[in-house]
Amino acid sequence: MIEGALKENALVGKTIVVTGGGTGLGKAMATYFSELGANLVLTSRKLEVLTQTAEEITTKTGNPVLPVACDVREINQVESLLEQTIERFSRVDMLVNNAAGNFISPTERLSANAFSTVIDIVLKGTVNCTLTFGKDWITKKQKASVLNIVTTYASTGSGFVVPSAIAKSGVLTLTRSLAVEWGKYGIRHNAIAPGPFPTKGAWERLLPGDLLEKFDFKNRVPLKRVGDHQELSNLAAFLLSDFAGFINGEVVTIDGGEWLQGAGEFNNMEAIPPQMWDSIENTIRKSNKS
Ligand code: HXC
Ligand code: NAP
Repeated sequence: MIEGALKENALVGKTIVVTGGGTGLGKAMATYFSELGANLVLTSRKLEVLTQTAEEITTKTGNPVLPVACDVREINQVESLLEQTIERFSRVDMLVNNAAGNFISPTERLSANAFSTVIDIVLKGTVNCTLTFGKDWITKKQKASVLNIVTTYASTGSGFVVPSAIAKSGVLTLTRSLAVEWGKYGIRHNAIAPGPFPTKGAWERLLPGDLLEKFDFKNRVPLKRVGDHQELSNLAAFLLSDFAGFINGEVVTIDGGEWLQGAGEFNNMEAIPPQMWDSIENTIRKSNKS
């Protein structure tokens, strides 16, 4: 089992809003932030799911968790999220833009609405939250930290998840742009680009049915395994915290080397059986002399 990496009470006195915090990676990160002493606000569309997660976390850690229903695509709901957060905890220190929508599909099969649905959740939702919380921090002259959860294909692009790829790369550009523009206010922006971390939400939409066997993510990862939620949570807590106070505008990849494996021209030669290398070497040496 992977342990928490930050020292006890590292986030005491901090209020952290996690979008998409009721499930999957959002829930895992939120649980760890709460273990480290943070006050939490969890938000997504499904209040029932959020309430159950909030109860689970509070029971485990003893620290307060406020569930707030909010569709991040709707600016008035995001503004209400800010109001409810301030009402409950007086201030907010950190924002994790983690909510997302995604599914695999050949791009030519997508309707305009399918495209914009994903882009609106991922890009517009992140913009809505960042702008709403950011304006409040700037008005109040308050330092803050924003963490955006992107993907490795935010940098490389990827077929079959094109709306998500476009939106995530927009979020990465937002991260880098505001890291500079809002640095003067003491507001840091960073991103994490996770490789495969099993969650119900992602796996049902990205590897439905027997695709899981055919495209098992761990076969794409040099470390031959998928990520552990605590590994992501450790990184997220560190980047958000004051321990990372001089890290601003960075994207940290946590994928076991997956995207580099796909990128390196000769990496697929891993498939050559070790006993063949003698004969390959001899062939090369012969041609060197000819
Ligand atoms: C084609 C589809 C589709 C599919 C939906 N649509 N699913 N088109 N193939 N499989 C179309 C619909 O027909 C509709 O268009 C439009 O998309 C909106 O669909 P709705 O169901 O009305 O939208 P909504 O209820 O808002 O749900 C949004 C959603 C859904 C994105 C479609 O999947 C969702 O709620 N996702 C939230 C959680 C999630 O996606 N988690 C995974 C994140 S994983 P029309 O034209 O018919 O109106 C991730 C990790 C990536 O990002 C990296 C992994 C390594
Ligand atoms: P998940 O459990 O499906 O998380 C997505 C969350 O977003 C859900 O809690 C969902 O809750 C929320 N959400 C969706 N639409 C929303 C909206 N309009 N407004 C507010 N909240 C909304 O999947 P996950 O795997 O944990 O993904 C979490 C993050 O990690 C995402 O940003 C994803 O892109 C990223 N990521 C995941 C992986 C992976 O391998 N799992 C890899 C790379 C990146 P509701 O349905 O209740 O709204």
